[in-house]
Amino acid sequence: MNDLTAVVEQARAAFELAHTPADLENSKAIFLGKSGRITELMKGLASLSIEEKKLQGAAINHAKQAIEAALNARRQALAERELQAQLQAEALDVTLPGRQRGAGGLHPVSLTLERIEAIFGSMGFEVAQGPEIESDWFNFTALNTPEDHPARSMHDTFYVEGGSDQAPNLLRTHTSPMQIRHAVQHVKKHRLAHGSPNDGKLYSGDMPEIRVIAPGRTYRVDSDATHSPMFHQCEGLWVGEAISFKDLKYVFTDFCRTFFENPELVLRFRPSFFPFTEPSAEIDIQFPSGPLAGRWLEVAGSGQVHPNVIRNMGLDPERYIGFAFGMGPDRLTMLRYGVNDLRLFFDGDIRFLSQFR
Ligand code: PHE
Repeated sequence: MNDLTAVVEQARAAFELAHTPADLENSKAIFLGKSGRITELMKGLASLSIEEKKLQGAAINHAKQAIEAALNARRQALAERELQAQLQAEALDVTLPGRQRGAGGLHPVSLTLERIEAIFGSMGFEVAQGPEIESDWFNFTALNTPEDHPARSMHDTFYVEGGSDQAPNLLRTHTSPMQIRHAVQHVKKHRLAHGSPNDGKLYSGDMPEIRVIAPGRTYRVDSDATHSPMFHQCEGLWVGEAISFKDLKYVFTDFCRTFFENPELVLRFRPSFFPFTEPSAEIDIQFPSGPLAGRWLEVAGSGQVHPNVIRNMGLDPERYIGFAFGMGPDRLTMLRYGVNDLRLFFDGDIRFLSQFR
């Protein structure tokens, strides 16, 4: 009997020492296997008397059951431990905040362009888009720019392949070529509508007014804190029968005051020169208060469209007249948000850009 108690104790101890199911099965074999301790004891019964067999057999069975119970208990304990370990490894903290998809936002200059389009849209202006690679004709010649004008020099203009010596291609230096492109299309459309297709003469028939803005990217050989080789412009053109400088003043003043949400904003039209307008003016604005108060800040070039340009639109300057302006949306964005380095807009630094979301 003492022997059996010892075997059961040894089995329990061995099972306790097993730390994996495989270890445990090995220990099991030592006690319950084909040549295990219990089997050996059973074999020993053969030499005993019937009476002793009964007694000893029952005792061995009892010990066997005790060992099996210990084995099962240990199996369960190991399985439980494994489950706990797995649960811990795969633990899910349901109180953690969810992973959010970063909310995108429009670039500050795009916000300005949207604003410009909305404000001019409310004044009946269409929006036109045009190519950034332009011909010398649309960028300069059609805009009454003489052959030897300094703006045409390689110092100022990026020339690109694909044109000829007489008609080079370039990256548009301003959005003014859109004056010509848009007006030519406009005139063509209304000539057709009025049954007067191109007869080679300047058009002096009826047509609705041309009222358009043309925002977009422009390029010049220039780079510092306030100039970038790529920058934005927005052209404006209003051509009709009696569109004068006073309309320009009214429209542009209204635009600036709406854009900056400041009805006290003061504008100054400073005499200037552009080959495609006559007379011409630079437009400066002044804030009545705030950090920029009292300073004149240039925001656009403008003027009464030159008769030669009206002709290049296909229109008779004896009947049609209007104004044009070209403003700098980058500059407007800097003024509106108090940004002092233009390059920040084009560096793509998310820390800067996300402030405008
Ligand atoms: N195109 C001129 C510039 O880039 C601006 C301008 C546009 C001036 C239209 C007059 C009329 O400086």
